[in-house]
Amino acid sequence: MKQLEEILRPPERSLPPYPPKFIVLASGERMVVRQATRDEVPVLLEAVRPLVGVARDFYDIVAARTYAELLGWMRYRVRDEYCLVGLIDGTLVGLVNGRSLSKRIGVSYHTIAMRRGVRVGAHLFASKMEYHIEHLGQDEVYIVAESPIGFRRWMIEYGLEERPQVHHELGGVMSYSLTRDLYFAAKGRLIVGERPLPKDLAEKAAQIKLVEEATLITQVAGKPQQ
Ligand SMILES: CC(C)(COP(=O)(O)OP(=O)(O)OC[C@H]1O[C@@H](n2cnc3c(N)ncnc32)[C@H](O)[C@@H]1OP(=O)(O)O)[C@@H](O)C(=O)NCCC(=O)NCCS
Repeated sequence: MKQLEEILRPPERSLPPYPPKFIVLASGERMVVRQATRDEVPVLLEAVRPLVGVARDFYDIVAARTYAELLGWMRYRVRDEYCLVGLIDGTLVGLVNGRSLSKRIGVSYHTIAMRRGVRVGAHLFASKMEYHIEHLGQDEVYIVAESPIGFRRWMIEYGLEERPQVHHELGGVMSYSLTRDLYFAAKGRLIVGERPLPKDLAEKAAQIKLVEEATLITQVAGKPQQ
């Protein structure tokens, strides 16, 4: 049995850590961005699960896929995946995930904003680009959008390059690429944040708290879904 499990598990490299930072949002709140651990996946699944039923702005497809990816990470069925979370006073307000395809290439999976109107998702996406380019030292990141808002936020705001020959892991659609040059052109404008974390922020961000399910749905969709 143990032998079979070894075959089922993709070999895993230990990826360099993402150094935590904080971002002052337009609301004045300070959002901590830090790496989640595999042990925290159950709480992340709990956070994402209710969004599978939210059709507004394509939360459903993005949540369902993110759920599967996080579960795959927890159960050792995805290679070299990572997840970054956004926390305000310890409460989860969004998450991003992706994986390392090779030394040179990163793959962006998903971005989910659980609080809206203050660019939580945009900042978290920027943080994952920072992770791939500055901390994993990769040359480019393959990206797709599953929603018009995502397309505006990534393809248009960063001016991503098309990669017609690359079929992205997410559904096989044409991939776009964030290159090192595009990343550094956007740094300061789209990619922001301060380090190190002050002690009070680090302490509050140590444990992930979730809002009530009804509050979450109202936050992303404006009203409870039928
Ligand atoms: C895409 C996403 C991550 C962007 O997050 P974000 O940068 O924090 O942006 P928001 O979702 O708050 O706002 C995006 C737009 O939605 C609109 N919006 C819709 N509902 C809103 C609400 N309740 N409050 C504020 N804005 C809202 C705003 O007009 C905003 O327009 P703008 O682009 O002119 O600013 C987020 O919309 C999301 O999680 N969407 C569902 C999943 C998804 O599509 N992920 C990306 C896959 S490619």
